[in-house]
Amino acid sequence: MSATKDVRVVVGVDFGTTFSGFSVGHIRRPKDVETYMKWSNIYERSDFFAPLGRLTRANSHKIPTVLVYDKDFKVVQWGNSAADCVEDYGSSLSSDDYCVVECFKLCLSDTCPTARKPLLPDGLSYRKAITDFLKEMQKKVETHIKSRWGSATDIGKHVLFVFTLPVEWNHKAKDIMTRCAVDAGLVQKGMENAMFISEPEAAAVYCHELMDQYDLTEGSTFMIVDGGGGTVDITTRKLLTDKQLGEVAQSMGNYCGSTSVDDEFINQVAERLGITRDRMAELRKIHARRFMYLIQNFFCPIKFNFNERSEYVNNRISMRAYDFLKAEASAEKKALLEPLNWLFEFTYDDIKTMFEPSIQAIIDLIRKQLKASSDRCSAMFLVGGYSQSPYLMERVKQTFGYEVDIIASPINPIAAIQRGATLYGLSIEDDHESDLFGFSKTVKTRVLNYSYGTNIEIPFAKDDPPERKTERNTIIKFSILARRGDSVRPNQTFSEVYYPSNARQTKMSVNIYASRDYDPEYVDDEGVSLIREWIIDLPDKHLGKDRPIELSLTFGNYETKVNAKNPRTNTECSVTFKCFEFGV
Ligand SMILES: Nc1ncnc2c1ncn2[C@@H]1O[C@H](COP(=O)(O)OP(=O)(O)OP(=O)(O)O)[C@@H](O)[C@H]1O
Ligand SMILES: [Mg+2]
Repeated sequence: MSATKDVRVVVGVDFGTTFSGFSVGHIRRPKDVETYMKWSNIYERSDFFAPLGRLTRANSHKIPTVLVYDKDFKVVQWGNSAADCVEDYGSSLSSDDYCVVECFKLCLSDTCPTARKPLLPDGLSYRKAITDFLKEMQKKVETHIKSRWGSATDIGKHVLFVFTLPVEWNHKAKDIMTRCAVDAGLVQKGMENAMFISEPEAAAVYCHELMDQYDLTEGSTFMIVDGGGGTVDITTRKLLTDKQLGEVAQSMGNYCGSTSVDDEFINQVAERLGITRDRMAELRKIHARRFMYLIQNFFCPIKFNFNERSEYVNNRISMRAYDFLKAEASAEKKALLEPLNWLFEFTYDDIKTMFEPSIQAIIDLIRKQLKASSDRCSAMFLVGGYSQSPYLMERVKQTFGYEVDIIASPINPIAAIQRGATLYGLSIEDDHESDLFGFSKTVKTRVLNYSYGTNIEIPFAKDDPPERKTERNTIIKFSILARRGDSVRPNQTFSEVYYPSNARQTKMSVNIYASRDYDPEYVDDEGVSLIREWIIDLPDKHLGKDRPIELSLTFGNYETKVNAKNPRTNTECSVTFKCFEFGV
């Protein structure tokens, strides 16, 4: 975000794996956030027949993150209308000239297991899909802002966009998402009018506004479990003085969102047909629409209502009409299924098995998060679409009810992320004189997601690995300036003093690296990324090795700054980079 920007309106964008939405607010009324709900089911392009859509989804907080493309990869439907095409076999879009894509957000992540990512049609990149989807959102955002504030708000000048991403996602995901948002015309080049926060942090800011409903007071600690379609993200926050929030443990997440239960359902179908998982993934790519139909119309109603008392609910589906799956079935399974008329029955235990990996992963995450915080957790808030699962709520209460007093899903749990992102943007200090200028007035501390440091050359020790010994009898190591897990305040500085390894050197390499490790040892370790190459001058050769350099890292509001000070010459120089910890 630009330091000179005159922000009047904030748009919080929740670009979700399965559903997306946005909320708006004005800085003059910072608590008054509106969730956009006027999603139309009719696609604006008149040259394609648009299905009427399902009334049940009209006026919802979010729309499906789904696109329908024609053969030239032009978008012909998006959102509700795109999802409805999947269901409406009478629609002109059900021919094979069109392809439906979904879950493409997961492709942004390096760490997402391949099996969880969608296989997109050949010739379509996930970046194009994201850009195309954001382009459609942009039109809605623009129309809505114009309708609310007219000429009093210029989108280019007065609007701040706050985007959210899962906690575990790295700078690369953020950079790609930024490029897509710029290409979509949603934000300006250089992100002048945009910033990112993590999804559970946005949800925490939303829940923070509701604390009085739960009688939580200063000093209380609460946990957010954001159960989405793709990921489940968890954070723990403490209510500080002056209505501020502190982060008390490292936020964490996993790819165990609600669609992982859908994937388990597909795995069971594959198993019953004797089709391998890899082949099923291929088939899912080719027949995306039909798989979506199977999941949305058959499995989701079962999934949504499933609970400990579903034992006697009979779930049957005939696979007779699924010729493309029947054709792939193994001979043995065919012989077994043909007399049964291809009727599949899913028992209570079958469904429970589909939920189990996801539920276990969520329980593990919560357990880890409780362990990571030294404070007692007074409340746990489940938000996101998956939080509506009665089964998930039951299992969480069974497991943690004895140690956490309040376990609840607050009002509007699905809109928690977009509303929280908007509230966060509205809480940014705009007084240039304030120390907090550009920082949120609500979020006071964050826990670092990465370790940051530089490369140091030090004398080789006898226990060091011999293959790392340089010609100068030294070794190059990762020296940590700020460690993952450290709690950071706005503008907080971390520093270290370094000396030249060679008495005659006139330059010193102080590249900046980041790593997800708590204690990265070498700068070429797996997972270490180079953020900024940097070589500084080292004058006064006559002083030999006695030439200290004070290197400091400051988490600022718009960027992270690294400063190198030479106390001998009293000179300093600095570089900056954008990171996900504070600021943009
Ligand atoms: N009652 C329910 N039981 C289980 N899952 C549910 C229920 N209601 C909604 N869901 C699931 O919640 C998901 C949508 O939630 P949400 O909008 O929070 O996800 P998202 O933001 O798209 O995903 P992510 O945050 O992972 O990117 C869908 O996968 C949907 O199937
Ligand atoms: Mg989400």
